[in-house]
Amino acid sequence: MTAHSPTRRTVLTTGVAVAGAAAGTVVLAACGGSDSGTSGSSQNTGPAPAGTTVAALNDVPVGQAKSVTVDGEPAILARPTDTTAACFSAVCPHQGGTVAPEGGVLKCPLHGSEFDTLTGALEKGPAETGLTPIPVKVEGQNVVTA
Ligand code: FES
Repeated sequence: MTAHSPTRRTVLTTGVAVAGAAAGTVVLAACGGSDSGTSGSSQNTGPAPAGTTVAALNDVPVGQAKSVTVDGEPAILARPTDTTAACFSAVCPHQGGTVAPEGGVLKCPLHGSEFDTLTGALEKGPAETGLTPIPVKVEGQNVVTA
């Protein structure tokens, strides 16, 4: 009977250790993924390798913006004019909420910060800065990371 307690404890301890190792693996894998895109370069200039397609330019109406994903991260793609595009991280600089187009601005659902649809500039706090730009360019019919 008493032999069960140490055995059970051992199993639980082992389970925790395995869970911890698995969590560590996930973190390391995420870091490795980011690094692999910039290997060979000593300068990390953006979240995605240059030339990654963000979206078709015509997916975004002129003067508006839409939510997209760049290298697995939430982003905003704006189309200031017929032939130009601008892109920003959708991660709110306040506390990391995901900003999205709403009512003519880019709005954070967590605490209500607002950003300019076409420039990502701060319009209303509590955030203290605008959205982080992601360099993009128009290539043919597509918007790609620059
Ligand atoms: S996280 Fe966006 S306003 Fe607080």
